[in-house]
Amino acid sequence: MAVPLLDLNTQNQSHSDALKLAFERVVGSSQFILGHEVASFEKLVAQRLGSEHAIGVSSGTDALLLALMALEIGPGDEILCPSYTFFATAGCIARLGAIPIFIDVHADSFNLDVADAASKLTSKTKAILPVHLYGQSADMGAITELAQERGLKVVEDCAQSMGARWKDDEVGTIGDFGTYSFFPTKNLGGFGDGGMLVTNDVDLADKARVLRVHGSKPKYYHKLIGGNFRLDALQAALLSVKLGSLNEFLEQRRANAVYYLKSFKSQRHQDLPLILPTEMEHCWHTWNQFTIRVMDGKRDALQAHLKKYEIASEIYYPLSLHQQECFRDLPAMPCHVSERLAKECLSLPIYPELSRKMQDEVVEVVTDFL
Ligand SMILES: Cc1ncc(COP(=O)(O)O)c(C=O)c1O
Repeated sequence: MAVPLLDLNTQNQSHSDALKLAFERVVGSSQFILGHEVASFEKLVAQRLGSEHAIGVSSGTDALLLALMALEIGPGDEILCPSYTFFATAGCIARLGAIPIFIDVHADSFNLDVADAASKLTSKTKAILPVHLYGQSADMGAITELAQERGLKVVEDCAQSMGARWKDDEVGTIGDFGTYSFFPTKNLGGFGDGGMLVTNDVDLADKARVLRVHGSKPKYYHKLIGGNFRLDALQAALLSVKLGSLNEFLEQRRANAVYYLKSFKSQRHQDLPLILPTEMEHCWHTWNQFTIRVMDGKRDALQAHLKKYEIASEIYYPLSLHQQECFRDLPAMPCHVSERLAKECLSLPIYPELSRKMQDEVVEVVTDFL
């Protein structure tokens, strides 16, 4: 049985009537950029996350860039970020002339190792940029403590973890800014690119809104240099429809994770070169990815084997950021766990609409091979 990595069509079909109405409403309004639809979506997101302000932007990458710009991060500033994440996290730091300082991660949570972060602080460190990878919060208790002790700003990269919680708080609402992506694979997947920035600080929110439109306020008068980071009205209207089902999507992802864990355990996975992912203490995991670790150098062969059975899988990520060619001129920052994970990690399908039969097939093919 073929098992895709994602089934957007099934998800979107189940919202088809409401999506069509939203589409017609926006087309009829002729207001295609920002405006009422974006403002109303921002309000819904702020309510859902329990944040004071939400600012709709063009992508998760632009949300990160805008957050760092609003915090006046610039040339020579050092920003701590995990080495094991999607490129945008560090790319945005470097685009502002700041220096990404790569921090190793924990092998069990895949998230930032705060002790390693503390050991890499210097007088130039301005901010810490934790990523809540694969849908699970980083250790926001230790990160907040370190940031408060050293006067660091905190930008949470929640691209993969909308709806995840650290203790009672939604990720993204703990630091100075939280940034989200609506790339179609994310917990709230859009119909193209889109992103959101949240903050509880009214001055930072105002600044981000001005920077979103080239730093213009009033129109055509620029005290700041911003960019075009605007969200489209169509995207906001369609996402507003799907936001109503976010909790359901997350519960389905969680149920799928529970089922995978139970099934792998019943196959005596502990006798295999396989480490299952874990929901860490204080975390309410949203399982944007179900990422196993395949030991004994068998990861790539397992992926090829899955492909033969038409089971999709993905390697997030095959190379740690500190090893990327574009960062070769930075001082060496060894991150041994990240390097190991880049050779071991394999993400299996876990999208909300995945059937139990498909999951059984995945578990059987993986365990048979290993
Ligand atoms: C951790 C992380 N940060 C940032 C981004 C960037 O988001 P976008 O693709 O919407 O620009 C992504 C998207 O893949 C991501 O996974």
